[in-house]
Amino acid sequence: MKVDLIVTDIGQLVTCASPDGPKRGRAMTDAGIIDNGAVAINGGKFVAVGSSDEIARDHQSENIIDARGRVVCPGFVDPHTHIVFAGERLDEFELKIKGADYLEILSNGGGIISTVQKTREELADFLVADGNMRIEKMGACGTTTIEVKTGYGLDLESELKMLRVIFEMDKMRSHSCTLVPTVLAAHAVPPEFRGRTDDYVDLICEQILPQAKKYYDDFTHFPGCGIPIFADVFCEKNAFDLRQSRRVLETAKNLGYGIKAHVDEFTNLGGSRMAIEMGATSIDHLDAISDREIEMLANSETVGVITPTVNFNFGSPEFADARKMIDAGCAIALSTDFNPGSAPCPSQPMVMAIACRYQKLLPAEAMNAATINAAHAIGLGERFGSIEIGKEADLVFLDAADYREVCYEFGGTLVSKVVKGGREVYNKNDGNYPRRRESNV
Ligand code: NIG
Ligand code: FE
Repeated sequence: MKVDLIVTDIGQLVTCASPDGPKRGRAMTDAGIIDNGAVAINGGKFVAVGSSDEIARDHQSENIIDARGRVVCPGFVDPHTHIVFAGERLDEFELKIKGADYLEILSNGGGIISTVQKTREELADFLVADGNMRIEKMGACGTTTIEVKTGYGLDLESELKMLRVIFEMDKMRSHSCTLVPTVLAAHAVPPEFRGRTDDYVDLICEQILPQAKKYYDDFTHFPGCGIPIFADVFCEKNAFDLRQSRRVLETAKNLGYGIKAHVDEFTNLGGSRMAIEMGATSIDHLDAISDREIEMLANSETVGVITPTVNFNFGSPEFADARKMIDAGCAIALSTDFNPGSAPCPSQPMVMAIACRYQKLLPAEAMNAATINAAHAIGLGERFGSIEIGKEADLVFLDAADYREVCYEFGGTLVSKVVKGGREVYNKNDGNYPRRRESNV
């Protein structure tokens, strides 16, 4: 068979293959490795996955990439980000170093609210440009699919502006990632509603969620691509309590959104239980989740998204107990939570490195958590996140002979090339691999 592209001589082809949904429990320790592997790609999708010999026997192409023994894995999927925002929060960074508390900063009108003020004032075009710059950084770290939240607008006009920015970033295609939009109008209570959270929840339920959904439905690009839209809520002290969170998610569900929730980041308000019972696609953070809720998560379709960048960024020695969750049979995914306050981090490999050290994930578990399980955490596990026939051909080439190096080495990047939908979209372009050159052998 003649195909558009063959990638061959892959030292370790890390497939993360999981035909029956996300990986859970022991299955997460299997990264689905094929030694000396190859893939054949046609029409942007994988049409064959196997050994280099098998692929060479049955496929021909004018386009052949020789991986020269490198590791190749699925494009990373980042299932939780807040990358549309104006202004960094460098003063807050220093305040936190000096011991200030995140929720205290928020209740004093700083934190998320300070980003809201700047984002409301910023022109959409600048938000698009800055967002794309962040996407490019993420792409250079191997990410090819990104969930992007609103949530720094917190009024009708600004939330719709943020949604438009997400759509524009995707449409412009100056980068190469698939974007999945999430409406997070319930991220914080805006200053004009201070002390009147229920009134703000009215605005979210009566205006922001319905109009944002209509905007998405009218914007033919996303439905045409089969990309879903989600709604999310920050269920936390000083943000939205359980009753308010439930109201937001119930309204969203009735409007046809997929649902997600920030829960148990600092305080257990019962949000995990509620969101699982409501059929959330993912619940995110989970630092304060209870054992009973871990059991519920394990017995549900919901994916648990862990964000260890936040704890790392706070300099905290305590992390969500992802080890316990995996051992209990939960499907766990990893995300950067890239945002200007709690996690200014574009890199999924960095998240994996932290998760291995502080949450005791094995590299194979971290790899599955940042690919196939992350894809399921945004409802796209059938299309992205693994190297399997019929899936979108998104690949990351690592300057490594063993996939575990991507978790072992940190602070730099091993990503040498990225292929998205069968097209090369990033190439670090150094000829220094393999380290032992042929001439030295
Ligand atoms: O996931 N927890 C709420 N939202 C973000 C933080 C956003 C911010 O600090 O700007 C999070 O950590
Ligand atoms: Fe978040």
